Amino acid sequence: MRSIITLTDLRSARLLSTGRVGLVPTMGYLHEGHLSLVRRAREECDHVVVSIFVNPTQFGPREDLSNYPRDLDRDLSLLEPLGVDLIWMPTAEIMYPPGFQTWVDVETITQPLEGTSRPGHFRGVTTVVAKLFNAVQPHSAYFGQKDAQQAAVIRQMTRDLNFPVEIVICPIVRESDGLAMSSRNVYLDPEQRKAATVLSRALQAAKEAYEEGERDADKIRGKMKEVLASEPLANVQYVSCADYDTLKELNTVTGKALLSMAVFIGKTRLIDNIVLE
Ligand code: PAF
Repeated sequence: MRSIITLTDLRSARLLSTGRVGLVPTMGYLHEGHLSLVRRAREECDHVVVSIFVNPTQFGPREDLSNYPRDLDRDLSLLEPLGVDLIWMPTAEIMYPPGFQTWVDVETITQPLEGTSRPGHFRGVTTVVAKLFNAVQPHSAYFGQKDAQQAAVIRQMTRDLNFPVEIVICPIVRESDGLAMSSRNVYLDPEQRKAATVLSRALQAAKEAYEEGERDADKIRGKMKEVLASEPLANVQYVSCADYDTLKELNTVTGKALLSMAVFIGKTRLIDNIVLE
């Protein structure tokens, strides 16, 4: 496993990689969710590249960029046994050279849900992912379903810009009590950590209602809100029952739908989702 920083080193290493190249873009502070993406890439590709870059442009001015958890030594020791070929850890200067002024902006599906709560977030994500694709030139790239809207936005960008990259979306990895794994879970104190299970419980209750025949999207959203309201530490930012592809809020669930939510537990903002098929 080789760790590199500069674009020159990345390009030389890329020229030497024959066969299928898989990219797993990350912001580090890896958990089992990231490792599941790396394992999938390892199964499907000849060369696996993991990028570690805490991308400043996807954080809002009042978000947690400066506190975002980082532990590079731990990340490298988790990646080593998985057979990763290359770790690329570009600096902010490399990704955003002085005078930087070119952005990738996906227009419509970036607007609802996370887009409303985090203006500018997806512009930062799509710009950095486009730059990662240009630099690494992977055949496939691996992302988690945990960030469902991000996955939809990246699929859209890849189609719109004709990137010859297969986008592979891997299932959410959960703790044994249902909490979706996230680098931000580390912010939760023990009481908040317990309260945080309310997100997966709310999704599960809504899924059960759906499985029992409920198709009224307002009632499905209501089910999630009811469970979330039972947890005093939960401060709900949004609850959604939307079309899986367009992310438009539904009146009635007729096809594939995405149930999703963003909830503050204390100061920690958590997201989670489930797909109804
Ligand atoms: O999902 C993430 O960790 C980030 O949004 C990504 C895709 C690595 C871009 O910075």
